[in-house]
Amino acid sequence: MNETIELFTENPLEAGLRLERTPEPHVLVIFGASGDLTHRKIVPALYRLATQGWLPTGFTVVGFSRRPWNTEEFRQRMKEAVQTHVGSVDLAVWETFVQGLHYMSAQYDDPEAYRRLQNYLRRIDAERGTGGNRLFYLATPPSVFPTIIQRLGRDGLAQSPGWVRLVIEKPFGHDLLSARELNALVRRYFQEEQIYRIDHYLGKETVQNILVFRFANAIFEPIWNRRYVDHVQITVAEQVGIEHRAGYYEQAGALRDMVQNHLLQLLTLTAMEPPVAFEADDVRNKKVDVLRAIPRYAVDEVARYVVRGQYGPGWILGQPVPGYREEPGVNPQSTTETFVALRLQVNNWRWQGVPFYLRTGKRLPKRVTEIAVQFREVPHLLFPDSDILINPNVLALRIQPDEGISLRFEVKQPGPAMVVRSVNMDFQYGRAFGVRTPDAYERLLLDAMLGDQTLFTRADEVEQAWEVIDPILQAWQRDPAPDFPNYEAGTWGPREAHMLLAAEGRRWRRL
Ligand code: BG6
Repeated sequence: MNETIELFTENPLEAGLRLERTPEPHVLVIFGASGDLTHRKIVPALYRLATQGWLPTGFTVVGFSRRPWNTEEFRQRMKEAVQTHVGSVDLAVWETFVQGLHYMSAQYDDPEAYRRLQNYLRRIDAERGTGGNRLFYLATPPSVFPTIIQRLGRDGLAQSPGWVRLVIEKPFGHDLLSARELNALVRRYFQEEQIYRIDHYLGKETVQNILVFRFANAIFEPIWNRRYVDHVQITVAEQVGIEHRAGYYEQAGALRDMVQNHLLQLLTLTAMEPPVAFEADDVRNKKVDVLRAIPRYAVDEVARYVVRGQYGPGWILGQPVPGYREEPGVNPQSTTETFVALRLQVNNWRWQGVPFYLRTGKRLPKRVTEIAVQFREVPHLLFPDSDILINPNVLALRIQPDEGISLRFEVKQPGPAMVVRSVNMDFQYGRAFGVRTPDAYERLLLDAMLGDQTLFTRADEVEQAWEVIDPILQAWQRDPAPDFPNYEAGTWGPREAHMLLAAEGRRWRRL
């Protein structure tokens, strides 16, 4: 692939884009402002947007949380957050940015606190020209989402002279029923057009590029189907363990934490039909079609097609690491899964008969997210004397790290004999563009500020994804895993994950 891409950073097109993509002045209210997500992701992303000039004048943040901080303390903590997660603070940018940071210490269920918030927001509108525009961001533990949504609705904050939008972090429900209930509750006070459900994978540059790669190139789409594709592998491997999140993870597990959202999103983008236009509902309609086309497993089929694992002690980067059951805060008899591998089908004209194999896990040998489309073997072997088997072509979309795309094909090795070898043609973002890849939260925050829902999941999409997952949850509840831990930290998961593919004459890619 051609990597000689010329970049013009200050061209008129970009200047136009900047104007078009500057949001209207507004107030961002962050519920859970003293928490980890605000510290690690939200405020660093806002600061980065500020340094690049994407935030509107008068942009204001109101942090709303239980911790008894005041605005001064909040500002100091957020400066530390930027120092830690961005690396350095540009004092000139910070001076302006910090003027817009405010904090309210309050209980989430206290109606009086929401009245105070309402008055606070009105004052900000008058002082900073934010015109009644509100972006409410739920960055709290999910158990308090319903309380906050109800209070916003009942205490009049869902109404305003300007626009009102609600950003909801994952996890959106913990099964199909709870997701439906949460959707019903939100809809009582907000229209779907006001709701922004986050799946941060959709904010990743390389994930957005799946659609550009597929639909801005003429040569791949004609072969992107059951006639040419043998199967698809989607891997989201993590080297980290559960990183002090035992309380959450014990309840969630890898299926809810990763498969229901991130992996299924990668699958939908890989498998969807071309949308009529690159607009929120056109794109989301096509994604929902994919989810609807995935046959739901009967509870009795789950054991055959879905493998779960939990890591025991092992080695990562030459260091010994404890098993999941030894992690602080984890039940020593825990049956929570930290690894899932599964086989799904997409039953439609394009994909009938093409398996999609998905796997994800904690404490795997390396961090890598990849979508690999493996093509069929050649129909007839012309080189029988070749000393090795001919490998099928693979197109790999590397989501992270070492973001890029590679195509494996066969070539003749130089020499007198007919020896066939596999080589890769590689495109790497880093080499081609030489710019920092923005964090997913920068893109998602900006889109929510602009009112663009394309990269957020719609109510029916979340529910369809839960429909795929629900039978697996039920089967696992009925038959708890007897053999945990069943893979060593630092390995590629339990043996059964390999057998899942081996049973069909395939194997996982070596990553
Ligand atoms: C989160 C999960 O949604 O995604 C985490 O809750 C996981 O458990 C994380 O580590 C992975 O995200 P990324 O962007 O590091 O691939």
